[in-house]
Amino acid sequence: MAESLTNDNQATVVAPSNIAFIKYWGARNLRRAVPVNPSISMSLTECVSRCTAQWDTGRGQHEVLLGDGDGNLAPAPEEFAVRVRGHLNFLRRWAGVGGHFRIATENSFPSAAGIASSASGFAALTLAVTRALGKHLDLPTASSLARLSGSGSAARSVVGGFVEWPVGRSDEACYARVLAGAEHWDLYDVVAVVDRGPKSVSSLDGHRRARTSPFFRTRQRRIPQRLETVREAIANRDFETFSEIVEAEAIDLHCIAMTSQPPIFYWRPATLAVLAAVRTLRADGVPACSTIDAGANVHVICPASSEPQVTAALEAMPEVEQLIRDRVGTGPIFDHDHLF
Ligand code: PMV
Repeated sequence: MAESLTNDNQATVVAPSNIAFIKYWGARNLRRAVPVNPSISMSLTECVSRCTAQWDTGRGQHEVLLGDGDGNLAPAPEEFAVRVRGHLNFLRRWAGVGGHFRIATENSFPSAAGIASSASGFAALTLAVTRALGKHLDLPTASSLARLSGSGSAARSVVGGFVEWPVGRSDEACYARVLAGAEHWDLYDVVAVVDRGPKSVSSLDGHRRARTSPFFRTRQRRIPQRLETVREAIANRDFETFSEIVEAEAIDLHCIAMTSQPPIFYWRPATLAVLAAVRTLRADGVPACSTIDAGANVHVICPASSEPQVTAALEAMPEVEQLIRDRVGTGPIFDHDHLF
């Protein structure tokens, strides 16, 4: 991570979103975001959250602002502000300090649409707030604190490259580790945005309902072998083995969502159209595979060599509203470019 750039108890962090290859779906402890199974992801480059935090030692209320990407800030919607204030109170207790915070945050991509805006958002918030308090966190602490925001996947966004988030023997041991740096394998994530709106059911609700699916246990039985295969495939840059597991894993997650009580249907007809287009690309010899988080949008993962063909094929689809060409990234940075 780059050097500290704090000024007057203020810090700005740009933290990446991440895309999970083996996913977190179902919690042992939802409030503390302790997952049922380990997960593996890669941190991204283009899909990021920028967060500026300012600590004021005096009395007062936390202020939570949302940026629009054009330099304008407005009070954040109440539901989001409540989650942020909860995490600020937690971080304040953790640091043993008083006072209050002014926070501004903005995303470079559509929020709450299955592109893990809560992962990048809460990773950036955690790192910015703790740095504004003068703390320099090691990876276990940064990852655990980000996880305790309630967005478990934020635990993987405090670092770059290929990341595993094990369950850990205890709550304290539940933090992310780096499997390989970004330079290890230049993988792309071409995100086919087919629905820019927020998802119908939050991932928190999805985790809550996951165990009600009759397929929950079936997926859990598959996870250990899948983790091993994906770890090895990453180590060997073996895209063929990797892609089989990644696609099957995403479909399993959505089968669980669709068979939960009550069921959750994240997919749209356009989602299926993109999945079919990726299968066609593969049949034509273009290495690519799909994965989908809690939303309708499809992340098409491919090696750098096939990215131009993947992008061209997806660009030609009328169902695709927006294409985000992203790739594995090096992780969060501290930045001079404050939001206020
Ligand atoms: O971190 P949460 O609570 O938003 O859950 C993340 C859920 C998925 O994105 C679907 C899977 C994952 O591991 O990122």
